[in-house]
Amino acid sequence: MPITLKASYFSANSPNSSSFHEDSLIEISDNGQITNIIHQTASEYSERLSAARQHDHLITLAPGHFLLPGFIDLHNHAPQWPQAGIALDRPLADWLNHYTFPLEARYADLDFATPVYQDLVTEMLANGTTTALYFGTIHNSANLRLAEICSQAGQRAFIGSVAMDNPDQTPDYYRDASPEEAINKTQTFVQAIQDTYRNGFIQPVITPRFIPSCTTETLQQLGQLAQSQHITVQTHCSESDWEHNYVRERYGHTDSEMLQSFGLLNQHSVLAHATQLTTTDQSIIKTEQAAIAHCPISNAYFGNGILPAHELLNQGIKIGLGSDIAGGYTPSLYANLQQAVTASQIRQDGVDATIAADQRGVANSRISAKQAFYMATVGGATSLGIQAGAIESGLLADFQIVQAPPRFASLTPDEQLEQLLFRHTRHQIKAVYVQGKLVHEKEHNWYE
Ligand code: GUN
Ligand code: FE
Repeated sequence: MPITLKASYFSANSPNSSSFHEDSLIEISDNGQITNIIHQTASEYSERLSAARQHDHLITLAPGHFLLPGFIDLHNHAPQWPQAGIALDRPLADWLNHYTFPLEARYADLDFATPVYQDLVTEMLANGTTTALYFGTIHNSANLRLAEICSQAGQRAFIGSVAMDNPDQTPDYYRDASPEEAINKTQTFVQAIQDTYRNGFIQPVITPRFIPSCTTETLQQLGQLAQSQHITVQTHCSESDWEHNYVRERYGHTDSEMLQSFGLLNQHSVLAHATQLTTTDQSIIKTEQAAIAHCPISNAYFGNGILPAHELLNQGIKIGLGSDIAGGYTPSLYANLQQAVTASQIRQDGVDATIAADQRGVANSRISAKQAFYMATVGGATSLGIQAGAIESGLLADFQIVQAPPRFASLTPDEQLEQLLFRHTRHQIKAVYVQGKLVHEKEHNWYE
């Protein structure tokens, strides 16, 4: 059934601008697309309002509630959900070898995988995340189970079967046996997803874990696959000192240079972290129109640096936000957008008070709440090439309905948005829609 939402909403237009409209009518078609938005000032407003009422299509948000676009998590390791928050004091390589790989190996068992994936997807929807780009594991049966769970729960998902076959950097018990196996497994998974989810609600992703985990042959062949298939590619890129230097030592080039030479960089590629990029790397990423998944909570532990998000946004490089479950400890993109702003301020100010203030940090690094909101919504949608991320006619109806905190003084719309983002708690997310379908409802009091 088509619906009309009568709601006040915020939506990002560009990194530095977002719009606010009060009590607009948002018309949503049967197939979950926003077909029309009628603002209060429009001449047909009262006529459309009465028509929606008459046809019993109207849902009016209760006072103090706002409509926001659903958030897009651009980097999430679904199988790592059970270790969220654990051992973040370990350096990356240690954390992978002692915690992550043993955990991911357990997804050979579907009885282990199923309840984890169900719980994570439920939790993400309850946090307002309507689309996610997931790393699975090396096991296609568990990756297909994740796809089923996302499809049933109504979360739009891009899912990758992880390729990792380098015996030097992966354990015997958790590795693809050969480049052939890594490639065949990827191809089988891509085909299975495309055959099962023909409407594109679930999409397959080419997923070399990162350069250290993969042999050159696998990276080259996955690159060829990426060039022939035009589907999303995801990997980790220049994510820490150790990782960045490992690639330089192995190839004499950076991650971005090597990913480009393997054919793994194009407008469908999403690179997680990228805290260690050189200026040449930045221009390669820009030229190839690849995107960066900014994961500021994870970066605080493993990144050895803070992404110059302000500079990259100004250059027009695509950036979205990622939780990096479980390098990041929370699936909440609210927490990640708060951290993105906080980290950028720290980058600007610097951290060592014994250094003169004007030399301590990196000038012009700070980002605004608006820029973080843009990354969590439009930035993610642009990176994945989906018609979502904003509340605009023609886009998919992916929303969260959020109750504002109590207001004690009048606020401008910009201030109201900042408070919605920074004074957020999960229980304020009352309802979540993906493609026009209600997929999470905390309680019924969000509408009149
Ligand atoms: N690099 C390679 N694999 C991983 C992973 O699982 N998490 C993070 N944060 N970085 C990685
Ligand atoms: Fe990651």
